[in-house]
Amino acid sequence: MGDTFFKWDKERLTTHVDAMDNEHKKLIDIMNRLYERHEAKATKNELGSIVRDLVSWTVTHFDHEEKFFDTLDYSQASVHKKIHKDLIQRLKDHGAEFEKTGQLTPAFFQFLKTWLTAHIMGIDTKYGVIASQKAS
Ligand SMILES: [Fe+2]
Ligand SMILES: [Fe+2]
Repeated sequence: MGDTFFKWDKERLTTHVDAMDNEHKKLIDIMNRLYERHEAKATKNELGSIVRDLVSWTVTHFDHEEKFFDTLDYSQASVHKKIHKDLIQRLKDHGAEFEKTGQLTPAFFQFLKTWLTAHIMGIDTKYGVIASQKAS
């Protein structure tokens, strides 16, 4: 079996909001499971059910996140929601592609990785800063 797809890295990925960090860890767990089962050449059925888990958990997470940052004085809220919408759309497009071809492409995994690094590190950490200021 290959390397773990993605490792939680507190230093780089923490938002300093425990509830959101825990949700991000759960997202990463699902992505890792998908990658691992893909590497193990699991059936389309099995992979498809993990992809559907990933989509539904992402929708749930974004919803929780938006409800949370709406409680803060967070000026980027609407931009952040727009980014979530785009991510969901792209994730669903990849999912639909998989349903058609039965293949999980390198581009799909690259998308997941970019999302984790760019979105969590670059965008989610911003509401984290505001939440920490509010708490202190
Ligand atoms: Fe986000
Ligand atoms: Fe997030």
